[in-house]
Amino acid sequence: MILCVGSTGLLGRKVVKDLISRKFKVRCLLRNSSKTSILEKTGAEIIQTDFKNMELLDRAFKGVDTVISTFSTNIAKQPETKGLWSNDYQINFELIKKAKEHRVRKFVFTSYWGLAKFGAFEHGMIKKMIEDLLIISGLDYTVLRITSLATDMSLLLGSSLKKRGFAPIIMKKLERISPILLEDLSFCITDSIQNPKASKSIIEVAGKEEYTFLELQNLFSDAIGKNIHLIFVPLLIANIIAYIIDSLTVNKYNARGLVSAFTGGSTCDITTMNDIFRLDQGSFKAYLTDHYKNSNCTLG
Ligand SMILES: NC(=O)c1ccc[n+]([C@@H]2O[C@H](COP(=O)([O-])OP(=O)(O)OC[C@H]3O[C@@H](n4cnc5c(N)ncnc54)[C@H](OP(=O)(O)O)[C@@H]3O)[C@@H](O)[C@H]2O)c1
Repeated sequence: MILCVGSTGLLGRKVVKDLISRKFKVRCLLRNSSKTSILEKTGAEIIQTDFKNMELLDRAFKGVDTVISTFSTNIAKQPETKGLWSNDYQINFELIKKAKEHRVRKFVFTSYWGLAKFGAFEHGMIKKMIEDLLIISGLDYTVLRITSLATDMSLLLGSSLKKRGFAPIIMKKLERISPILLEDLSFCITDSIQNPKASKSIIEVAGKEEYTFLELQNLFSDAIGKNIHLIFVPLLIANIIAYIIDSLTVNKYNARGLVSAFTGGSTCDITTMNDIFRLDQGSFKAYLTDHYKNSNCTLG
């Protein structure tokens, strides 16, 4: 039995679908407010909890061989840093503890690439702390450090570009990005359950195509079918704005940490990833073109 946490999310949904098609038995552990309808037709078992009811958590862990934690606070919707500790830290901590108690074999966790560059970015610090907990836990683990998801490019940045024709970003024109497709990342996650090369490993994952942000601007223009503009906000300006926000809100949102997370590009060497997961990755460019063709986009 595979216990999935975060399975109503973009990545989690795909992982559940792939696990079921690979004939794994899947149990999804959701918070009480999650929309179960997303998962109802998948055939996965669903348990809802506040993650504090230990009896229910013990029930959720019954017969579990592997835990897959792809859950994460959505910073765009819940930007206050204090929520990160009660969600991302506390829930993953509890999951690792329960996994040990129930002699779970494997724990798969999705983390961030570039933790070292984040400085004071608290979400990144928490991911690193969970990685460290897994390393000392004695559990078998696979941590996938994700650069950026193709869906985030199309759904977050892309939706703003589609609506307004422009979007401000903190990255520099020649910094590089290599977004990974959801299906490729889901393949790595499901494969790591039984892949000995992924055992006790922290693996950096990225897409096979690398673009500068200037090239990305052209990709979006071609895919949308109209010239769009990325507005490159200088780092100094971004840091000044972040400093003002942090000062006025007593660091409620850790805005300077966020700025540090969104600078410096987002790409990595995928030699190890390719060696571990024998995967023929899809093309981000083709994904983006398909995305706009299928979404019937019109610029206002
Ligand atoms: N997106 C990126 O570019 C990117 C980059 C690097 C790493 N990652 C990592 O990749 C993983 C998957 O990302 P994603 O894009 O699939 O995220 P997502 O779409 O925002 O999904 C987040 C999931 O976490 C659940 N969740 C949030 N807070 C929770 C809580 N307190 N208790 C229980 N469940 C909670 C959500 O449930 P509800 O349905 O109830 O909201 C949802 O299922 C995350 O670990 C993320 O940090 C993403």
